[in-house]
Amino acid sequence: MLKQIDSHLWVAEQPLKYLGLPVGTRMTVILLSRERLLLISPINIDKETKAQLDLIGKVKFIIAPNLFHHLYLAECQQRYPQAELIATPGLEKKKPNLTIDKIFFRDEISFDSELEYLLFDGFQVLIPPKIVPANEIVFFHPESKTLILTDTIFNFDRNFPLITQLATRVLGCYQYLRPSLLEKIAIQDKEKLKQSIQKIMAWDFQRVIMAHGNIVENNAKEQLKAGYQWFTD
Ligand SMILES: [Fe+2]
Repeated sequence: MLKQIDSHLWVAEQPLKYLGLPVGTRMTVILLSRERLLLISPINIDKETKAQLDLIGKVKFIIAPNLFHHLYLAECQQRYPQAELIATPGLEKKKPNLTIDKIFFRDEISFDSELEYLLFDGFQVLIPPKIVPANEIVFFHPESKTLILTDTIFNFDRNFPLITQLATRVLGCYQYLRPSLLEKIAIQDKEKLKQSIQKIMAWDFQRVIMAHGNIVENNAKEQLKAGYQWFTD
């Protein structure tokens, strides 16, 4: 089911477990000009969500924002065969069976002034026992002053099951807008990371949407700054 966040911005959520923890996942939906819909990190789109999307516009872009959120891409393409799948660099090697139409920074991809993006260069994730790059593309929707991240920030709280609350307390992202200790441990190039964070902070956002955790509507920029300070200290 879609939940409206701003005049041209929606999210849809579904349950998901990561390393056994219920963390949920969230898709972001943006309505661009000419009734074009863009889906960031699609979830399993059920009939109700599809009907809601159909009322709003036509799905033209399906975005795979990093190397991890690819579970529902093929299914989403089947639902919307006319849509372009645009993926982060490296996904074509990780998931060779996917039909990817365009790759960020390799192909010409522009949403004019309606949506901006950049690569969160330097951000890596510890997936025990390996450290792997996330290659995450982060987005800024100027009209709604919203920053859209996927796995590069979390924000868990008491709305999540107790086991998730306990684990994220230990991992440093319970009631904080932060990456987790798993990403903090994975840092290899702090300077590169700080440069990416500086670029993100240059956007004029007031709200932060992420894939796992609660959307932050107030003081998001201050909270994000503090969270990334902790992360890179
Ligand atoms: Fe994720």
